[in-house]
Amino acid sequence: MSVKQAIKVERLNKSFGKGDTFVDVIDDASFVVNKGELVALVAPSGAGKTTLLMMLGCVEDPNSGTIWLGDEKVYEDKWLTKETRKIRREKIGFIFQAHYLIPFLNIIDNLTLLPQADHVDEKKAQKKARDLLAYFDIADKEKAMPSQLSGGQNQRAAIARALVNEPEIILADEPTAALDSQRSLDVINMLKKIAQEQNVAIIMVTHDERMLPHCDRVMKIENKHVILDKI
Ligand SMILES: Nc1ncnc2c1ncn2[C@@H]1O[C@H](COP(=O)(O)OP(=O)(O)OP(=O)(O)O)[C@@H](O)[C@H]1O
Ligand SMILES: [Mg+2]
Repeated sequence: MSVKQAIKVERLNKSFGKGDTFVDVIDDASFVVNKGELVALVAPSGAGKTTLLMMLGCVEDPNSGTIWLGDEKVYEDKWLTKETRKIRREKIGFIFQAHYLIPFLNIIDNLTLLPQADHVDEKKAQKKARDLLAYFDIADKEKAMPSQLSGGQNQRAAIARALVNEPEIILADEPTAALDSQRSLDVINMLKKIAQEQNVAIIMVTHDERMLPHCDRVMKIENKHVILDKI
């Protein structure tokens, strides 16, 4: 596998349910996302965007196919490791529509919770978290609670949290949905900078066509088929 590849998917299939409740979501998807790329994922509601991200993030089980994350084949008709949680922790950062910071922990504790759970040296985790908060221009909010931050500041803190474990891949499900267009643009430019500077592959769900020119490629789900194009 090429050193450039962050995600490679071959003949991936996903459906839910049986009989009356059967829904076919993804049919025979094959694509490659490279390191350093910001890919916009655009498709109508219910088309399978979240389902696709959750399969790439080792959260949702595909029905069949192959998934590589970096140079590791993680799925081939079944998970190739019992430790999907470990893969998730080591390789993936998640960002969601709502920031999902833990309301009763201050910002720095929100950022260091995961590394601590992972037995990373606490001082090291704190330094990394502080560097990220400075990078996102919210260093002064370290001791504040999420309720004391604005929507944009909380979303920046959530992006910082997704970066704490230095993931190779960031999966972002409508990270800008709760923000106004200027703040959305700020977040997208930030994600683009992260992709380029830290060589991270980012797939970001968006419903906002105005964000597309700021991304490197666009992924669509049309009729259960995943299509990856230049902008
Ligand atoms: N756990 C589940 N069980 C059964 N069906 C599911 C499950 N999760 C998703 N689905 C179905 O799979 C399809 C794709 O859902 P998904 O959440 O991936 O869509 P989406 O593109 O993220 O939509 P939205 O833009 O509204 O978030 C939908 O028809 C949904 O009802
Ligand atoms: Mg969704």
